[in-house]
Amino acid sequence: MTVSDAGVADATAHAPIEGALVGFGGVAEHGHVPGFRRHRGFVIRSVAEPDAARRDRAREVLGPEVRVYPSLDALLRSESPHFVDVAAPPCTHAEAVASAIVARNHVLVEKPLATNLADAERLLAAAQRAGVALVTAHNWHYAPAFRAARRAVASGPIGTPRRIEFVTERHEPAGGPGSWRLDAAVAGGGILVDHGWHQLYLAFSLLGAGPPRSVRARIAKRRFRNASAEDTAEALVHFGNGAEARLRLTWAAEERRTSLRLEGESGSLRVDGGRVLVRVGSGAESDWPVDPDEKDDSWHAAWFPPLLDLFAAAIAAPSTAAPNRQEARACQSVIDAAYRSAARGGEPVVIGG
Ligand SMILES: NC(=O)c1ccc[n+]([C@@H]2O[C@H](COP(=O)([O-])OP(=O)(O)OC[C@H]3O[C@@H](n4cnc5c(N)ncnc54)[C@H](O)[C@@H]3O)[C@@H](O)[C@H]2O)c1
Repeated sequence: MTVSDAGVADATAHAPIEGALVGFGGVAEHGHVPGFRRHRGFVIRSVAEPDAARRDRAREVLGPEVRVYPSLDALLRSESPHFVDVAAPPCTHAEAVASAIVARNHVLVEKPLATNLADAERLLAAAQRAGVALVTAHNWHYAPAFRAARRAVASGPIGTPRRIEFVTERHEPAGGPGSWRLDAAVAGGGILVDHGWHQLYLAFSLLGAGPPRSVRARIAKRRFRNASAEDTAEALVHFGNGAEARLRLTWAAEERRTSLRLEGESGSLRVDGGRVLVRVGSGAESDWPVDPDEKDDSWHAAWFPPLLDLFAAAIAAPSTAAPNRQEARACQSVIDAAYRSAARGGEPVVIGG
């Protein structure tokens, strides 16, 4: 599974593609809308949002001409958007994506694609049958540090990647202690879904090891003990070629940190915050060049336009997004299997089995 750094240069050469936003919360306002504005190949004409205050906010941000509805069903009764961008909480994704596909809309959906593998597979198959694009927002691919890490791996100094260890530490979930992210019924799980999904597709593309085969996982409630979802998770994923990925995630840390260590056959690589450090053999670590990033908040507006390049390419030719679809399916497969493993005390579970 690979991801291209190449943009679709002519995405903005035509009239913007008109679409609808489903959910006007944090990521829609602070990530997607600024991203659509920078990209200019897309324009939001309508919004489906159940919360009246958030509908008012959508009008303030997008302008009084934007048409707002309390639900996607109501929107689709009056509008014929060319695409739908689903940015509502995870438990709503499967139904919203399915409705958009039935209406023959192209779909961009925030991660997770769905909250279980059966739904994810149903959506992927439905999009394929309908001939519409279905792209899951794997926006961390476009973070400057991860782009640089991919370039470093591709240019060869560390050799074939064998092992990755990925750490995501936060003090609390985005949205704070009252967030839906701690409600398993809304979020489809806890931190393993919320951040683990990002760790997984990044691990797949950096390791280039093919489909994941088995996983062992443990989950815990360290800070938010009364929540229905875990705030801490650890998973060890094995791939067919012997490579492995260890994921460590917590919302019970003292400070915010995202770090990764990748070992190859002839060297290693570290991503620490915005830096990428490469070591060849037993030599000293040296900085690999990383493009400047904007502030690292939870919304990552700067990483959204290149994702929109992929979406534009997938609208022109849905097969362009095949690697994204494989990644989404694999993320969901690992997460489902990881929760089964955690429920059995960390026993290995065959992925997809
Ligand atoms: N890729 C990333 O970096 C990133 C970052 C943040 C959030 N996200 C994802 O984006 C999604 C939204 O997260 P958020 O932080 O914006 O949440 P949020 O709670 O800030 O906003 C969600 C919005 O959706 C609305 N909503 C709820 N049910 C709905 C429905 N049935 N139809 C339409 N709207 C509905 C809510 O009223 C709210 O306004 C989640 O899937 C999350 O995982 C991704």
